[in-house]
Amino acid sequence: MLKKETHCVPKHIAFIMDGNGRWAKKQMKPREYGHSVGAKKFKEIVQHCADIGVEYVTVYAFSTENWKRPKNEVETIMKLFRDYIHEAEKDFRKSDVKILFIGNRDVFDDKLKDEMCRVEKLTENRKKTLCIAMNYGGRGEIVDAVNRLISSGKTSVTESDITNTIYSGAVPPPDMIIRTGGEIRLSNFLLWQSAYSELFFSDTLWPDLTTEEVDRLIDTYYQRNRRYGGV
Ligand code: IPE
Ligand code: IPE
Ligand code: MG
Repeated sequence: MLKKETHCVPKHIAFIMDGNGRWAKKQMKPREYGHSVGAKKFKEIVQHCADIGVEYVTVYAFSTENWKRPKNEVETIMKLFRDYIHEAEKDFRKSDVKILFIGNRDVFDDKLKDEMCRVEKLTENRKKTLCIAMNYGGRGEIVDAVNRLISSGKTSVTESDITNTIYSGAVPPPDMIIRTGGEIRLSNFLLWQSAYSELFFSDTLWPDLTTEEVDRLIDTYYQRNRRYGGV
């Protein structure tokens, strides 16, 4: 078990929180129930990562492709998202984590957009960061960045231009990407940032993930040899 703040931990861990629907099905419950249990698990895992000293956590909460799901399910996820924002705003003093939202906000109503900005502003001076990927797509992120660069007058772009213009801006790339739920793919998550991330795939369904498993995965991370193309 990792000791709080004393063990060497990766700077940035990103989670693909997958498996809520299948978890609910196993309990003979509607998929929506899986999302609400998954939202509680998200808070527990984020708090654990902060406690052990991880500076940046990114979570994939809703992809640009997830709108294809049944209306009820999408509405439940959006309600959980709104509830989380309200709670984060109301109890902002309770946490020591800065909240950033990554993804395309155009689809959200003005009220929600304002709330997202307020929470980002209220928490901005904190050392640890939680990035919530909401209506996020990795390809869309790169396209948005290039379009913004073109609008600013650029006629050609560099890797640094794109790195500095994507939604996550100053956030360093993830050292670890952990996907629960057994699928071995990125599903349009952090395509630019994941170039040299270490990837971990767990069969555990997101609501069943434990802090002990996260600690074990971190231990495995330290057995990997990150060469970045070198020898
Ligand atoms: C991940 O769980 C949460 C979202 C995509 C919003 P799923 O809802 O994809 O769960 P499974 O993969 O169907 O079990
Ligand atoms: C990825 O999971 C998106 C999130 C976890 C938010 P999906 O369940 O949408 O991915 P696919 O459809 O299995 O690739
Ligand atoms: Mg899924």
